[in-house]
Amino acid sequence: MSAKVLVVGSLNMDLVARAERLPRPGETLAGESFFTVPGGKGANQAVAVARLGGSVAMVGNVGDDAYGLQLRQALEVEGIDCQAVGVCQGVSSGVALITVDAASQNCIVIIPGGNGLLTPEAVQRFDGLLQAAEVVVCQLEVPVATVAWVLVRGRELGKRVILNPAPVTGPLPAEWFANIDYLIPNEHEAEALTGEPVRDLDGARRAAERLLQMGAGKVIVTLGAQGALFVGPEGSRHFPAPQVKPLDTTAAGDTFVGGFAAALVQGKEEGEAIAFGQRAAALSVTRAGAQPSIPYLAELTP
Ligand code: RIB
Repeated sequence: MSAKVLVVGSLNMDLVARAERLPRPGETLAGESFFTVPGGKGANQAVAVARLGGSVAMVGNVGDDAYGLQLRQALEVEGIDCQAVGVCQGVSSGVALITVDAASQNCIVIIPGGNGLLTPEAVQRFDGLLQAAEVVVCQLEVPVATVAWVLVRGRELGKRVILNPAPVTGPLPAEWFANIDYLIPNEHEAEALTGEPVRDLDGARRAAERLLQMGAGKVIVTLGAQGALFVGPEGSRHFPAPQVKPLDTTAAGDTFVGGFAAALVQGKEEGEAIAFGQRAAALSVTRAGAQPSIPYLAELTP
C-alpha cells in the first residue's frame, strides 16, 4: 500500500540529560539522569503519523554508524516505509544534545551529520513516493535547497504541503510561501519569521496574518499551554490546549504536526485535525524523550 503521508526531514539520536536547571554559559552542572532515544524532527513527525493512524514514508539520511542502524530500525518497527532513508558513508548520523530542566524546558544542540547531506537529487530519486502521497511534510533540519525543491514539487503535484519551520534562524525565502498549504510554527518561530512579538494570542494572530500576507495558505501557531491559533483566509479560531502536567516538552510540536497530518489523511476536517494533534501532543508532554513520548491512536480514543 502506498503511503499517504511523505515526511522529508531529519533523523537524530537524542542524547538527553535531565538537570534541575539549564546550565549557564561556562558553567559545569551536575545532572540527574541520562538516556539515549531516537529523535529528529522529521523522524518524530513520521512516527507520530504512523502511531496515530496514517500510512507514512520517510525520506532522509543517516550516517554509517550504530546510531544510523538504530534510527532506521526505530522507524521500521512502526511500519514506516524506509526505502528512501539513505546511509551516508564516512559521516556520523545526526545527533541532538538535549538538556531538560525540572520545569520541563529544554535546550538542544544539533549536529546534522547525514541530515546535512540530503540533497534535492536524493529526494528526486523517490519521486514515486511524492506522487503517491496526499500530504507532504517538511521541517528545517535538512538543507534549505532540499526543502525548497520539495515544496515546489509538492505544489506541482497538487499535494497538501505542510511546513513546520523548525528550527528557524530567520525569515523564510519569499518564494516558498506560495507552495505552503499549512505553515505550522510555534510562538518563537512565528516571531522569528515575522518580527512580530508573539507573547499572547493577539501577537500570534498578528504574526499569522503577516504570514498569510506573505503568501502562506493557512497558518497554525502552536502556543504550548496556550493552545493553538488557526488563521486562514476565512478567519481565525483559537483551540485551547488540554491541561496536563508537563514532564518533557521535547517532540510535542512534532507530535502535533504528525497527528494533524494523520488526521487529514483519515478524512478529518481541519478543526478536528488540529484538536486531534493537540490531544496527542498533550499526552506526549507527560512522558520523557522524543519518540518514546509519542502516543498511539488507542491511547487517544475515549
Ligand atoms: O523536536 C524535537 C527534536 O528536535 C528532537 O528529537 C531532536 O532530535 C531535535 O531534532
